[in-house]
Amino acid sequence: MSFDTTEANRRSGAFADRDELWLFGYGSLIYKAGFDYIRRTPATITGWQRRFWQGSHDHRGTPEAPGRVATLVEAPGAGCMGMAYRITPAVFDHLDHREKNGYLRFSTPMQLADGGVEDGLVYIATADNAAWLGPASIDAIARQVLVSHGPSGANVDYVLKLAESLRELGADDAHVYAIEARLQALAGAD
Ligand code: SIN
Repeated sequence: MSFDTTEANRRSGAFADRDELWLFGYGSLIYKAGFDYIRRTPATITGWQRRFWQGSHDHRGTPEAPGRVATLVEAPGAGCMGMAYRITPAVFDHLDHREKNGYLRFSTPMQLADGGVEDGLVYIATADNAAWLGPASIDAIARQVLVSHGPSGANVDYVLKLAESLRELGADDAHVYAIEARLQALAGAD
């Protein structure tokens, strides 16, 4: 798969026929909307877990020195908490561009915190995309995050803002909190 998934997402047309739909955000989409939405509410999806296994060439790193950002990997029975946004397809251009470094539109049921289960859209970067980095130890992930910077800023800010937002949501996410703790320990060791 090419680095740029914009065209693949546009061609797939997933959800483009709706007047309104739900979008599930689990990474930067939790703490930085940057697009118009009708309303938002915390939500949980099942069968997926957040992992810092996706390379970022365009936001928190560069093609030569990629950062690490969140994607979802399958984990039967696991719950992943995030933020659901009620949107219209008018924001697809923004979303497809923002998530172009390997993320594809998937469909998922989401349990909304304010009630009900809705099918919606989620952007997921899978292992077959060209920017995929895959598993690494918490220490190796934190060390890569610490030195990575891209057009959207420091990779460390992405991780710390995500951890803070997840804590505010009351989300249980051992992977993210472990990377946060390791980053803090490495910064303290300077
Ligand atoms: C998301 O937040 O839902 C996708 C990954 C990201 O943009 O950080």
